[in-house]
Amino acid sequence: MSDPVSSNPIFVAIDTDDVAAARDLALTLAGAVGGIKLGKQFFTANGPQGVHDVLPEAIRERLPLFIDLKLHDIPNTVAGAVTSLARSLAPAFLTLHASGGAAMVAAAREAAEGFGAARPKLLAVTVLTSMSDSDLADTGVTGGAEEQVVRLGRLAIANGADGLVCSPKEIAPLRAALGGEPLLVTPGIRPAGAALGDQKRVMTPAEAMRAGASRMVIGRPITGADDPAAAAMAILEEIG
Ligand code: C5P
Repeated sequence: MSDPVSSNPIFVAIDTDDVAAARDLALTLAGAVGGIKLGKQFFTANGPQGVHDVLPEAIRERLPLFIDLKLHDIPNTVAGAVTSLARSLAPAFLTLHASGGAAMVAAAREAAEGFGAARPKLLAVTVLTSMSDSDLADTGVTGGAEEQVVRLGRLAIANGADGLVCSPKEIAPLRAALGGEPLLVTPGIRPAGAALGDQKRVMTPAEAMRAGASRMVIGRPITGADDPAAAAMAILEEIG
């Protein structure tokens, strides 16, 4: 799917509850990344106003917002949350759990459609990368993570999701199942030599793009660098 937001594929994950620190980082990175991802830690501490404080309207065009709340509820409630988010924040991207089912994803898409061409794009999360095959089996899903990722990926795309959030190693099976159209956005990215932190199965930025990622979510390798803008530019250079 064409992605009008930006040709820079890096979304930087700003994982903090500190508005001033997040704003400083966003302004520092404005020319070096394709957007800002704010998630549950930031949003539950600071709400929509905190998001506006980090990303004032004036820089939104250069720095689109990815709001990562991983919505999962009955269809009516998720539709309401999508409408509220689109109204209050106009994010370029938002996330929801594919495991909420076909009706939930379809209701989210219908709600998003109410905002026309500027609507948020919906990215579905399939299986959390923190879940092992045996964790999944404990929930009654016995076919293993990859099978479930592809099953939920198909379901989400068929019911109106614009794309999926997936681990780098899931890009190939998802592209094989779904073709080139859906947006595939991947965290778990580490430039060669960078600290892994708590990420276990990683790819470098170049490897992930070669595998078929549309965009990457990168946090600590950028936000924890002495010069975050230089770190982001070095990644851009690596992927050409
Ligand atoms: O600092 P790091 O590059 O590991 O940050 C990755 C970001 O992507 C974090 O915001 C993390 O919550 C998010 N994420 C992830 N793995 C997933 C889904 C989201 O690392 N499966």
